[in-house]
Amino acid sequence: MLNNFIKISDLTADEISSLVNDAMNFKYNSKISSVKDKTACLMFFENSTRTKISFEVAAQNLGMKVINFDNTTSSINKGESLKETVENLYYIGIDAVIIRTSDDNLIENLNKQISYPIKFINAGSGKTSHPSQALLDYFTMREKLGNLKDKKITIVGDIEHSRVAKSNIELLTKFGAKVVITAPEYFKPNIIPDGAIYISDLKEAISDADVIMGLRIQKERIKQAYNEESYICNYRLDSKLLENYAPNAILMHPGPVNRDVEITSELLDSTKGKIILEQARNGVFARMAILNQLLGEKQI
Ligand code: CP
Repeated sequence: MLNNFIKISDLTADEISSLVNDAMNFKYNSKISSVKDKTACLMFFENSTRTKISFEVAAQNLGMKVINFDNTTSSINKGESLKETVENLYYIGIDAVIIRTSDDNLIENLNKQISYPIKFINAGSGKTSHPSQALLDYFTMREKLGNLKDKKITIVGDIEHSRVAKSNIELLTKFGAKVVITAPEYFKPNIIPDGAIYISDLKEAISDADVIMGLRIQKERIKQAYNEESYICNYRLDSKLLENYAPNAILMHPGPVNRDVEITSELLDSTKGKIILEQARNGVFARMAILNQLLGEKQI
């Protein structure tokens, strides 16, 4: 039994399926909240639009109270540690902290250090983990494709710096999907994640794919200069490519999109591009399911 939502590898396929079923029920059947008396605190140490706002809307839809922690005016600036801060938040009445951080290990370390029963939810950590994004992506694929067994899912772009790619690979391989990653050498991870196959050629990689998932080039995490023109020439997605090599594929991207770099405007603004906005909407229901299971009667 899990008490936190920190990384996909902590969850079984059954636990993920249960969360997606709850997300479906929140979306289509107006499932009832069991967490109306709970309070969550959003602690975002990196920029965010989709994740932060959809967690806030999700909590409000569930009848919860939501507090936004403002790092710029907090006592962390007087030298208080994050551990002491979270311990104080628990005593003040916070039931869950929803954290985004550039540090790969901070949330797990805090969870080990703090003995109070406050829940930790990972809203994106470093370049390794973004489990709620993977959950909403899986939810969106299930809506569009049903069972993912043997479905070909091609993830394109900055795999090395992408926590979205890592969490998606962990999740999708639990459900028997064939995951292909494609990237230029400078965005190829040193270690290919378990279960994924690397193909350098974009056309071969997307050929007959059921899902093509673009990624944001994580400029804030890239240490060396990269050649944007070369990236555009070899890895940018456009309508013609999809028509020729993967006519039935759905197009996904976690957002925000570097328009005309990862995906052309003409593809983004076409019907195929609209699923990216549906992903953002599904984020609300996926996050309602996470909050309701973690803080409600039914524990994942
Ligand atoms: N997909 C995603 O994490 O977007 P934000 O950075 O806007 O939250």
